[in-house]
Amino acid sequence: MKMMQAVYCSAYGKPNVLEVRNVPVPEIGNNEILIKNIASSITRADALMRSGNPKFARLFLGLRKLKNPIMGTGFSGEVIKLGEHVKAFKVGDLVYGETTLNFGTNAPYVKLSEEKDIVRKLPKIIEPIEAATLCDGVLTSYNFLKSVGALKAGQEVLVIGASGALGTAAIQLGKSFGAKVTGVCSAKNEEMVRQLGADVVIVYNQDNFLDSNTKYDLIYDTIGVSSFEACKPKLKAKGRYISPVLSGSLLMDMFTTCFSQKKAKFEATGLKSKEKLNSYLEDIERLLFQGALKNKVSKTFRMEEIVEAHKLLDSGRKQGNIALIF
Ligand SMILES: NC(=O)c1ccc[n+]([C@@H]2O[C@H](COP(=O)([O-])OP(=O)(O)OC[C@H]3O[C@@H](n4cnc5c(N)ncnc54)[C@H](OP(=O)(O)O)[C@@H]3O)[C@@H](O)[C@H]2O)c1
Repeated sequence: MKMMQAVYCSAYGKPNVLEVRNVPVPEIGNNEILIKNIASSITRADALMRSGNPKFARLFLGLRKLKNPIMGTGFSGEVIKLGEHVKAFKVGDLVYGETTLNFGTNAPYVKLSEEKDIVRKLPKIIEPIEAATLCDGVLTSYNFLKSVGALKAGQEVLVIGASGALGTAAIQLGKSFGAKVTGVCSAKNEEMVRQLGADVVIVYNQDNFLDSNTKYDLIYDTIGVSSFEACKPKLKAKGRYISPVLSGSLLMDMFTTCFSQKKAKFEATGLKSKEKLNSYLEDIERLLFQGALKNKVSKTFRMEEIVEAHKLLDSGRKQGNIALIF
């Protein structure tokens, strides 16, 4: 049996539960492909899965430990082996995508299913490291701005957490949709957020957006530090408050605002249909091609540095995306 080293999570807990462990190279079935990984994502969602918090997530992830213990969901790499029934790819193709709850991408070899995983040919203009993280911040913010928040040209959007993976994407996507974009970030990240295209930047350690007179069509809290109740006065008459971070209060707000004009919304992007996510990725590839979007990767790590990478995730201070390279 051929073996490889992979990032393995043997128990729920702090970053040091992660280790680099010898595991078998995956065997592929008829509808699967094997890739040699170039890069994979390291995301806040990975940190959530590693910690097993919130606890109700363990119903899906595994009650006492992860059912799929090899970490990572985003990937980019080269196809090296094909199952008998695979028609869409050939050996040597460069691909990228996302395995969602199947995990397994923080490893040098990854098995991908044509049916279950998102696997796309890597366009020449996208760097593999950039591609490996595309299905986290960019895809999520595309879904939140386009579908959950229904942002239209000429509208005003406030992006809270503008320097994170979802935030850096949201600033650029908001502009590409023709909206007026305000970003909320720290003084340290102000210049970067301006360069990404924000029309207005509010530095949260100097000013509070709640104190301004501006009202927004959409408030997108990418990191879950605000609440619908607090933001409600800052929404226009039919304004929406959206966040990818689920909490008890957001869940309650979603129900109570069902019949109100101002709405609160959450969605788990990874649970959308594969067809829908692929159509979003087509749009995203077009924006990357046009130069209207760049996917910021601020730092890369090697497998043996995975604990350090997860400590950075847990700090809540990372800039844009981080990635694992092989
Ligand atoms: N529902 C979904 O479909 C879905 C999909 C993917 C991710 N998510 C979730 O989305 C969340 C965001 O992920 P992410 O990767 O974008 O986060 P992240 O990159 O870790 O965000 C950190 C950034 O937020 C900034 N920040 C911290 N406190 C702030 C504050 N009070 N105001 C404004 N900015 C602040 C930090 O900069 P400073 O420290 O310098 O301020 C840092 O740059 C995670 O909880 C993740 O689990 C949900």
